[in-house]
Amino acid sequence: MRAFLGDKVIVLGVTGSIAAYKACEIASRLVEHGAQAIPVLSASAQQFVGAASFEGITGQRAITSMFEPAQNPDIEHIAVARRADAFLIAPATANILAKAAQGMADDWLSTTLLATRAPVVFAPAMNMNMYSHPAVQANIATLQSRGCAFVGPGSGQLACGDMGPGRLIETQAILEALAVALHHDKPLAGKRVLLTSGANHEPIDPVRYIGNRSSGKMGHAIALEAMRRGATVTVVSGPAEVPPPYGARVVPAHTASAMLEAVQAHWGESDIFIGAAAVADYHVENPPAAKQKRSTATVHLELTPNTDIAAWVGLNKRGHQIAVGFAAETHNHLEFAQEKLRKKQLDLVVANAVGVADSGFGKATTRAWLITDDHVSAALPLMSKEALAALLFDAIAGLPAGVSAAPRA
Ligand SMILES: Cc1cc2nc3c(=O)[nH]c(=O)nc-3n(C[C@H](O)[C@H](O)[C@H](O)COP(=O)(O)O)c2cc1C
Repeated sequence: MRAFLGDKVIVLGVTGSIAAYKACEIASRLVEHGAQAIPVLSASAQQFVGAASFEGITGQRAITSMFEPAQNPDIEHIAVARRADAFLIAPATANILAKAAQGMADDWLSTTLLATRAPVVFAPAMNMNMYSHPAVQANIATLQSRGCAFVGPGSGQLACGDMGPGRLIETQAILEALAVALHHDKPLAGKRVLLTSGANHEPIDPVRYIGNRSSGKMGHAIALEAMRRGATVTVVSGPAEVPPPYGARVVPAHTASAMLEAVQAHWGESDIFIGAAAVADYHVENPPAAKQKRSTATVHLELTPNTDIAAWVGLNKRGHQIAVGFAAETHNHLEFAQEKLRKKQLDLVVANAVGVADSGFGKATTRAWLITDDHVSAALPLMSKEALAALLFDAIAGLPAGVSAAPRA
């Protein structure tokens, strides 16, 4: 997330919801990822949380009123409106949504929302009846039509005791939505990316499985980068330490055959396939329905090969579609990746090193090569998975089939 939020100036507007205390955690995560967070508290928010908490967390002076006794030019509303890379209103009350939708300017935050041209992300939090009220829904629709982004709310037990939509969504989802909003360029708008991510668990019996160490981090980075560039993303996700990012459509698929089925169901409507999952090569044929008892006898598992998903996609590719594979290798990276590209009729293969300390399953960084029909990149320097995802989409844009073709109706 540091790759997206680092050095960004984020105005964190906190309004008068019972969830206002959660904004301290959001401020803290923004700072942790290298952003400069400018806290702004509405008068009502100050009934729930104090400016001192935000000042302590962010190291910035909190803005608490329009007319401060000694006005600091740095926090004057037009100056901040110009300086901000994005506005994040979390939690956003029904009141601030109404004011923003109507263009009201009766306090610092609502006034500055009119003055800024930076992206605005709202994370609403309120009672479920308030949230579903047509007035609130109409305000949300108005703000969305003007390009504001919304994240959440989540569903569950609300502070008032009701169950339903209205909870402030988790901080991670808020940061992901912010990362998407911060990317102004949307060259993949109208394009659909189909991605496999995570591991596979091939059952041995109802409680045991054969698995692998894929964490889903690379898939997460790819999905987020695709959304930052404007694509609609479907993630066929196996078990993963890091779930797909907020905003992606997720199709859970624990085994290779479930993944294949999901890919087959969605490939027809997709423009780009990226196979980042560590798909199991084999499965146990007809695993027993009952848990197998421990015994002293040696157990032999008979493993049957799974259908190769990337090869199926390559074979079933139409003119405008692009298929990208990953080759996780401990050795002969380029040779194996080139063979994979050719055999599976892929447009691009990302070879990456596994089995080393700083690259591969579960790691935050990666050592990779990008391989296309006519080009093998030199070994890319050690980089974050986010940085590799960005290079991958740059490379996809340069492919001859080109995602520059007009989006399909
Ligand atoms: C205990 C308490 C909890 C509240 N929680 C919420 C809430 O979660 N969402 C909301 O929209 N309003 C909530 N309100 C009402 C707002 O604080 C009120 O509408 C206020 O005018 C909002 O002002 P602001 O948007 O300028 O912060 C709550 C009020 C109280 C007293």
